[in-house]
Amino acid sequence: MVIRDIYFLENIQKTGSLVVGVYEDGTLTPSAAKLDKNLNGEISKKVKKLAFKGKLSNSEAFAAENETFHKIILVGFGEQGKKFSNFEFEQLGAAILKASQCQDSEISVLLSQDDTNVVSNSFPALVAFGLMLKSWNFDKYKSKKDEKNKLKRVNFVVTDVETTQAAFNELKKLSDGIFLTREVVSEPANVIYPESLANTAMDELKALGVDVQILTKKDMTELDMGALLGVAQGSVNEPRLVVLHWHGNQNSNEKPIAVVGKGVTFDSGGISIKPDEGMYEMRYDMAGAGVVLGLLKAAALNKLPVNLVGIMALVENMPSGSAQRPGDIVKSMSGQTIEIMSTDAEGRLILADALWYVQEKYQPSTIIDLATLTGAIVVALGHEFAGLFSNNDTLADQIKASAEETGEKVWRMPLSKHFDESINSDIADMMNLSKPGTRAGGTTAAQFLKRFIKDSDTQWAHIDIAGVETTKDDLFMCSHGVTGFGVHLLYDFLKKTRCK
Ligand code: BES
Ligand code: ZN
Ligand code: ZN
Repeated sequence: MVIRDIYFLENIQKTGSLVVGVYEDGTLTPSAAKLDKNLNGEISKKVKKLAFKGKLSNSEAFAAENETFHKIILVGFGEQGKKFSNFEFEQLGAAILKASQCQDSEISVLLSQDDTNVVSNSFPALVAFGLMLKSWNFDKYKSKKDEKNKLKRVNFVVTDVETTQAAFNELKKLSDGIFLTREVVSEPANVIYPESLANTAMDELKALGVDVQILTKKDMTELDMGALLGVAQGSVNEPRLVVLHWHGNQNSNEKPIAVVGKGVTFDSGGISIKPDEGMYEMRYDMAGAGVVLGLLKAAALNKLPVNLVGIMALVENMPSGSAQRPGDIVKSMSGQTIEIMSTDAEGRLILADALWYVQEKYQPSTIIDLATLTGAIVVALGHEFAGLFSNNDTLADQIKASAEETGEKVWRMPLSKHFDESINSDIADMMNLSKPGTRAGGTTAAQFLKRFIKDSDTQWAHIDIAGVETTKDDLFMCSHGVTGFGVHLLYDFLKKTRCK
């Protein structure tokens, strides 16, 4: 379910319930105060009586005495005079949703510039965006939907309808990308496997003008992708490499920017099989590829003027009589050989060939890969930050800036010669694990990927999203389940760095 009926209006709708803002000290926001006068002080009297303090995320609902509205819903706007950041506007939207979704099927929200001390008059679009993102849940397999949530339609009463609507139109298309990511990542592995996910990419993106190419096992064999194929060989579900090209800036010869996603549609660990506990969560191990898909959709829907290549490396990692063994040695497309120490460190193997492929075919100036790569990054950063690794400070800073803006937070982690050497093998060019005792598993995995970046002039960043692709907390614009972390972050990054 998701709330999509969102309207921006100049005047208050005289239906449903009314949402008004209250600051921490109990005073009404200017737009609420104006209305309060017309209602003979009904709101302010009630705020006093309830001793309501409008801390952010506080709320209270009561039946209206006037004839016009069913209920009046108070929502905390926090400290008076405080300047909201973009992400805080989204959080305000989430708070409005939480306060009102069980109250009525329609609400009208009063939002004027004076309420939040902002210069931009399109800010209600961000509030609406946060509300919409937060309202999404994955309930398609539930025969009986949750009936507590009544809310269907939201009217924002704003000062500048046109500007707000224009800003929201872009955000709505971005949310279409985010929802696509959340949907495919949420789907179980019996529904989403390499072939079906590749077909979804084709169905979703071709019509939007994205060039979609699907490489099969045969194509990858011809390309000598031994590292990716080794992971895939244990499964009856054959691998796919999806190559997406959005050529948004037709007139320029600018080198593309590439995003590459790990798409292990199920990671059992292979012969190095995982323990049973929590293994079901490995249906989410294709989240990186899911982000690539959603990002391309958002970029194409909004016609971003960028030259963007997306690669989804899709395999299923299974144990079987034909599966890869620990101790095997495979040859990657780059020619470098890899000693397989654990078949459960499979993400780096498939990315090795995907990274090499995109460089051979497109010579990108910048490559960003996203992967649910290591449990170690979750130990280091928990579920709040993704791990960011990069060979380039400018790129890392740009990604960090977008992370701050969007609330999809990253923390930069180190790379070093010592950690690079820790993956040397005695009998091959490298191992897919580091020497025993090295620790720093997030970094050693990143060092492995770095060996597949051909040229140190290529800006490269690796984002380990193992801890943030799903959430049980309230950290992202998502109630629980799959977050879609990365789509908004990279969309913002593309806008800021490539769309001037
Ligand atoms: N897909 C996992 C990483 C993962 C762990 C993602 C937890 C999401 C949540 C990855 O393929 C894996 O199994 N990594 C191993 C690497 C180890 C064998 C070096 C890990 O982290 O345990
Ligand atoms: Zn694994
Ligand atoms: Zn994995």
